[in-house]
Amino acid sequence: MSQLKEQLLQLREQFNTDLQVAASSQDLEALRVRFMGKKGHLTAILRGMGALSPAERPAAGQLANEIRQSLETALEEASVVIADREQVARLEAETVDVTRPGLPLCVGGRHPLTRVIDEICAVFSGLGYAIAEGPEVEYDRNNFELLRIPEGHPARDTQDTFYITPSILLRTQTSPVQIRVMQQQQPPIKIVCPGKVYRSDALDATHSPVFHQVEGLVVDENVTMGDLVGSLQLFAKKLFGEQTRIRLRPHHFPFTEPSCEVDISCWTCGGEGCRTCKGEGWIEVLGAGMVHPDVLENCGIDARRYSGFAFGIGVERTAMGRYGIDDIRSFFENDIRFLSQFR
Ligand code: PHE
Repeated sequence: MSQLKEQLLQLREQFNTDLQVAASSQDLEALRVRFMGKKGHLTAILRGMGALSPAERPAAGQLANEIRQSLETALEEASVVIADREQVARLEAETVDVTRPGLPLCVGGRHPLTRVIDEICAVFSGLGYAIAEGPEVEYDRNNFELLRIPEGHPARDTQDTFYITPSILLRTQTSPVQIRVMQQQQPPIKIVCPGKVYRSDALDATHSPVFHQVEGLVVDENVTMGDLVGSLQLFAKKLFGEQTRIRLRPHHFPFTEPSCEVDISCWTCGGEGCRTCKGEGWIEVLGAGMVHPDVLENCGIDARRYSGFAFGIGVERTAMGRYGIDDIRSFFENDIRFLSQFR
């Protein structure tokens, strides 16, 4: 009996020593397991009680109970203190300094070409035009044939492109979208077609094998060259400012007759002549003309009843003028220092 008592008292002492150094709730749990767990010290000692005589057992049992009780109470008290301390530490560690500056946030912006396309389309939407789009991989027929550019026509040399098969190619202009619309819809037609086009040109400061156009098409009864001039005049004022004037020069396109190139008065000098317009006072921005009757007929539109005009705007050229960009390659290099100027 005295041996068991001795063991129990020693156990309590050992426990108290260990408890002093327990610093965390994990330490406490380990301590509990070590002393009171199934394989713990206390359990082992209690097992030895079987060897005691029946007379010794009650006293020994009582002592064992007292000691177990005192261990449990000590554990509980310590766990409250430690949990408290741990919470304080956690709160301190998680403190947020709301006065610190935030992390920089990168805000993107529309690409300058997208901006110009959106702006052009917005002007024409305001004039009642619908927006039509079509595939960049196109039939030779829609891109050339139906636009009066048959095989062997010299215009095919200036619009050489990338062929997928002999009859399928990357479109060289957005005009095939107009073909598609005219094939599907009778007049009145009033559309603009924005999009990417391709030509087999070497890349330099003013040429790119990929560029963008916005083409317009109006077909109805009694559409005249006067309507074309009026519409373009309105467009030029809306996009480049109220003081802008336009000038038409005779030109040739296979799909329009008559055809013209259209200049606008220089947005920098207003027509005096300066560096922007290379002393001309005028800047070429688009090609236009009255849709050739054959093109209408090619698409199932009665050319005796209907007439129309079409125009094509080069987006890169417009954007370069607009923003004073002197190299077309800047648009496609994705240099963030360039792009971030157009937020
Ligand atoms: N599609 C022509 C081009 O790419 C531009 C244009 C369109 C000219 C419509 C006249 C009328 O050169």
